[in-house]
Amino acid sequence: MGNCMGSSAKVDTATSGSGVSRNYSKTSHSSTLSSLTHFSEKSNASSLPTPRSEGEILSSSNVKPFTFNELKNATRNFRPDSLLGEGGFGYVFKGWIDEHTLSAAKPGSGLVVAVKKLKFDGFQGHKEWLTEVNYLGQLHHQNLVKLIGYCLEGENRLLVYEFMPKGSLENHLFRRGPQPLSWAIRVKVAIGAARGLCFLHDAKSQVIYRDFKASNILLDAEFNAKLSDFGLAKEGPTGDRTHVSTRVMGTHGYAAPEYVATGRLTAKSDVYSFGVVLLELLSGRRAVDNTKVGIDQNLVDWAKPYLCDKRKLFRIMDTKLEGQYPKKGAYMAATLASQCLRSEAKVRPRMAEVLATLEELEAPKNAGRPSQSEQPTVAPLRKFPIRQHYTALRNLTPNASSLPSHQQSSRVH
Ligand SMILES: Nc1ncnc2c1ncn2[C@@H]1O[C@H](COP(=O)(O)OP(=O)(O)O)[C@@H](O)[C@H]1O
Ligand SMILES: [Mg+2]
Repeated sequence: MGNCMGSSAKVDTATSGSGVSRNYSKTSHSSTLSSLTHFSEKSNASSLPTPRSEGEILSSSNVKPFTFNELKNATRNFRPDSLLGEGGFGYVFKGWIDEHTLSAAKPGSGLVVAVKKLKFDGFQGHKEWLTEVNYLGQLHHQNLVKLIGYCLEGENRLLVYEFMPKGSLENHLFRRGPQPLSWAIRVKVAIGAARGLCFLHDAKSQVIYRDFKASNILLDAEFNAKLSDFGLAKEGPTGDRTHVSTRVMGTHGYAAPEYVATGRLTAKSDVYSFGVVLLELLSGRRAVDNTKVGIDQNLVDWAKPYLCDKRKLFRIMDTKLEGQYPKKGAYMAATLASQCLRSEAKVRPRMAEVLATLEELEAPKNAGRPSQSEQPTVAPLRKFPIRQHYTALRNLTPNASSLPSHQQSSRVH
């Protein structure tokens, strides 16, 4: 592996810190349909996209329509103690349904599901809700979360997913409490998430995920990673087009600098975000840490100088790993992250290449336990205290400040 991010390939810090947000605009239902995509083959995304109407999307045989009452019963009236998580879009509750009839079941019996309830009224967020039904209703892959059903009733918008018992990667990396993730599990999670993105990017009708981040990577009981939250997913460029021009949406700290600056979206924007998550896995630090000041606030800016220096890399490694990682494997992963984070999108690797490199990390010669000589000689904790404080999962704000007009004018949603 070579080509670390040199001085000529720096991340544009001037733009990487600007206000990327997940926006919820009031849109009429009909205007939300123009960019939605249809994949007629249910098991993969290999057919050409055709726009689908709301009725077509919702009548898709893959997802079950639920009444609001059914989901109210399934979640015990959305009881606060069954809250699994909160994102910019909604609150997610644990629920139970009958595995055969899919009707509400007694808590503790039947199939466990996760029910996302939109925070806002039926206009705000409707588009993202429909986009999620559209994509997850059609795309099936072991590294994408399964959508079981939806509810559209009055102002209510809900989604019903398979339950992911280990929650989000964000919870494991940054919350105190759960056992710290081992090196092997971190590599496994990175590989699973990379497979999910590969599937989307390499489909004949390419899908750009657009909101790749630790809170959108869910984990099953064996730490298999699945991408969830397809509200911002977007059809990739078609024909001779090199990019999709769109309103800038996503999450601050994860979004690629050129996308933030120009609104031009490509699959390489996802690759950048993947690089940020890879850094989070290595360092145990959040993409943006508001408890820190200056350069330390932004993970990419902070970590960059250490990524390609074999002798200094240990300084950014998660102290929760307690030195239990193979030095060579960590260096390979750090080099890969720096390649994903190149400021020039074109020279970032494709997700298939990223995946191939990550799979090498699982090979016995790179995955072994560290020998004594590979342990860091200086305790990183002393020099770089990287204690995390849990903050609510609300880095996506519906009321985020609007972006400069040049970024908004190219909206094609
Ligand atoms: N299927 C699921 N199983 C378990 N937890 C989930 C599931 N879906 C979401 N969550 C939890 O809820 C959080 C928010 O979910 P997400 O789909 O990202 O919502 P939003 O669209 O509001 O960002 C996740 O980070 C995770 O902690
Ligand atoms: Mg989310």
